Amino acid sequence: MKEIPDASIDLVVTSPPYNLKNSTGNGMKDGRGGKWSNAALIKGYSHHDDNMPHDEYAKWQRDCLTEMFRVLKEDGAIFYNHKWRVQAGLLQDRQDIVHGFPIRQIIIWRRKGGINFNPGYFLPTYEVIYLITKPKFKLAAKANSYGDVWEFTQEMKNEHPAPFPEALIDRIISSTNAQLILDPFMGSGTTAVVAKKLGRSYIGIEISPGYCALAEKRIKQTQGSFRYNDFNEPTLFSGQL
Ligand SMILES: C[S@@+](CC[C@H](N)C(=O)[O-])C[C@H]1O[C@@H](n2cnc3c(N)ncnc32)[C@H](O)[C@@H]1O
Repeated sequence: MKEIPDASIDLVVTSPPYNLKNSTGNGMKDGRGGKWSNAALIKGYSHHDDNMPHDEYAKWQRDCLTEMFRVLKEDGAIFYNHKWRVQAGLLQDRQDIVHGFPIRQIIIWRRKGGINFNPGYFLPTYEVIYLITKPKFKLAAKANSYGDVWEFTQEMKNEHPAPFPEALIDRIISSTNAQLILDPFMGSGTTAVVAKKLGRSYIGIEISPGYCALAEKRIKQTQGSFRYNDFNEPTLFSGQL
């Protein structure tokens, strides 16, 4: 992100690693798995083990958000997806990551399904999306009629351990007039795939070469939409810069 000029991006859509293995609960902490031994994320990501000391993790994410905010145009916005959790009796509401950023709204993403092995807890079914905006950000026409609780089933047919469902990203991107969209934790490329489908441009950053290859494959398989150029000729918009 440091190579991206100031105020050059219309929209950031991202879901960072959640630091899930730095957890006191559910057998995730030491990687032995327990009841979670089949969970896709038990091994962490291919090039990131998702197990940082909490303070280090929060500082890293604040640094990332600072960069995302720097590259945003004056009418841009960040949709930053995260999860709240209770850790050793303390609420981790991610305030230590997002404080000081201009949060305009919190959207609840209600996921479906899952199996609850723990008799002491209700089945967790939601994540949060922080809408962090520059002052002149406005939604696309009519998008403000969506509520702030969105229900989308999580993605099941993807080799990546924590992919976005395409429908969620479609809701976000098509709710804006953004032309250039950045995902600094792109994983399997869902943000780019949906941007391409909607005829928008994208930049994706991902640390794992394997996930980059997966993203490239998915992007190639995606048909871009047609736009009209200055000469009123239909042009296949490839979605690539
Ligand atoms: C929650 S996943 C994103 C999944 C993505 N939304 C999708 O639809 O596939 C977070 C991603 O961040 C990547 N990651 C971790 N550390 C990174 C870093 N320093 N730079 C770039 N990507 C990183 C992981 O490899 C992982 O793919």
